[in-house]
Amino acid sequence: MVEQEKIAYDAPTEVKDIHVVNTYELEDRAREIVPKGGFDYISGGSADEYTLRQNQKAWETKRILPRVLADVEFPDPSTSILGHDIKVPFIMAPIAAHGLAHQTKEAGTAKGVADFGTIMSISAYSGAKFEEIEEGLQGSPRWFQIYMSKDDELNKNIIDEAKADGATAIILTADSTLSGNREKDIRNEFVYPFGMPIVSRYLTGSGANMSLNNIYSQSKQKISPRDVRVLKEYSELPIIVKGIQTPDDAMAAIGAGAEGVWVSNHGGRQLDGAPGSFETLEGISKAVAGRVPVIFDSGIRRGEHIFKALASGADIVALGRPVLYGLALGGWKGVRSVLEYFETDLERVMQLAGTQTIEDIKNAQLFD
Ligand code: LAC
Repeated sequence: MVEQEKIAYDAPTEVKDIHVVNTYELEDRAREIVPKGGFDYISGGSADEYTLRQNQKAWETKRILPRVLADVEFPDPSTSILGHDIKVPFIMAPIAAHGLAHQTKEAGTAKGVADFGTIMSISAYSGAKFEEIEEGLQGSPRWFQIYMSKDDELNKNIIDEAKADGATAIILTADSTLSGNREKDIRNEFVYPFGMPIVSRYLTGSGANMSLNNIYSQSKQKISPRDVRVLKEYSELPIIVKGIQTPDDAMAAIGAGAEGVWVSNHGGRQLDGAPGSFETLEGISKAVAGRVPVIFDSGIRRGEHIFKALASGADIVALGRPVLYGLALGGWKGVRSVLEYFETDLERVMQLAGTQTIEDIKNAQLFD
């Protein structure tokens, strides 16, 4: 393997529990300690950041109706997804380059996620190797998110490694045929300060010193239902198609054999002008009609948001930026603190809404 170039980038190193009052504040706290290029990359969206903002505004379009005579005590947020029993209906979303947030990279996130007890999504654009992430995961469940090479043989190699590493599902990110127009990254002349060992086999270079657009352009752009079929046949694992924003794409994914539909607008980082992710969820869930699980991300910052997503047809949600801010602020312990915050917050919302179980949330009617 190519020796990774060292570029000056001082990611935080502290490992400690963090006090979380709300997850919006974590962004402000992380801004103070994460180098500007990395912070802007993590927090930013594309173009006018309309979609990034709309991911938050969308929550205001529906309200939760409290049921006060529902005889609820100690609500139980446990659920299951694709054969995994999980204690909460949320998992870690795939995010590239955690080393921008903390020197322990994905191994730190993995340890926090595993210690808390949910599923880790490993990004193909991880800055850590599978073995390093395993040091944090210690056998805990993981899904693997793929950005494919243009070369099918290399994709097979990557899938082989992900399987050997113990991935139980493959997430195919379909919305990133090139980079969204990330003006902050352009101004900062952002390049990754370290390599991406999982995909470096198909990059000219390790990934270090490369911009996202440069990396995307060396990955496969033409994504179609064929890719779902090919990945499914080769991996013999469930394929979850991520980046779905329309019922038609959900149906196309299922038609090609996908065993999960992941509703997401990539945290407002790709096509600006797209609706808030939550706005698209109900229509997609109705079209999917329970055929496969629906996973939701982009904009979850509170227990109320998890509740609204589940009541609108999501089976589980994925958390991204807030967890990465937790990593920046406190390493693996900070990750755990953020996940614990979401658990406590969701349990409070469940109690106040009068829902004992996740099934009760799914059956709850939101108020328009
Ligand atoms: C991003 C990619 C790498 O949003 O997922 O930056």
